[in-house]
Amino acid sequence: MTIHIGAQQGDIAETVLMPGDPYRAKWAAENFLQNAQLVNEVRGMLGYTGSWNGHRVTIQGSGMGMPSLSIYANELIRDFGAKTLIRIGSCGGMQPQVKLRDVILAMTASTVGSPSHSIFKDVNFAPAADWSLLQAAAQAAQSREIGIHVGGIYSSDTFYDERPDLNEQMVRHGILGVEMEAAELYTLAARYQCRALAVLTVSDHLGTGEALPSEQRERSFGDMVEIALEAAFS
Ligand code: HPA
Repeated sequence: MTIHIGAQQGDIAETVLMPGDPYRAKWAAENFLQNAQLVNEVRGMLGYTGSWNGHRVTIQGSGMGMPSLSIYANELIRDFGAKTLIRIGSCGGMQPQVKLRDVILAMTASTVGSPSHSIFKDVNFAPAADWSLLQAAAQAAQSREIGIHVGGIYSSDTFYDERPDLNEQMVRHGILGVEMEAAELYTLAARYQCRALAVLTVSDHLGTGEALPSEQRERSFGDMVEIALEAAFS
């Protein structure tokens, strides 16, 4: 047990999928894993371990934002031995070619300041996905009838943004979408020699103001879970 994860040693698999929403962890475990067992409910941040095609998998909620994800990812890696961590979540589209329901595989995650920012001092560290996961996820996504984009995303600290000029610069520099967690996940994976990837569904678009209706979010979420699982075990 750790401060934020009530699981026993051995309860957490080496491969962990991390949705922001703990109820999404429950939904994914119930719909995609065999013999899923609840392994954490501290603070309602649900985590389940089960199996997929004979492979052991944990699906653990991360909460929203880099400080929350950082707590769970640190404990999963340092205390429970997680080795492959895949964020499955939503993002806001930033480029015109990025449409609602498309999936973005985040090759890099730019950020103003993650919880790890202070250790780099004047270096702008470049958080990047694990290549083997990225390649496998791109292959898994290509066989589906969804738009797929691979490139840079922006991990913001705010959902209700008071600095639209930052978004403008991100758009100008080709950033595909905005979310709030991946940069810290990639940084921790680099620090502890783990593999990490963020698989993101475009749930809204900053340019057009469109947003995905809630019934379509579930179907998109299922695509992401399958892409993440196939990538993890390819
Ligand atoms: N901003 C930040 N995070 C997000 C967004 C957004 O527009 N959409 C989904 N996650």
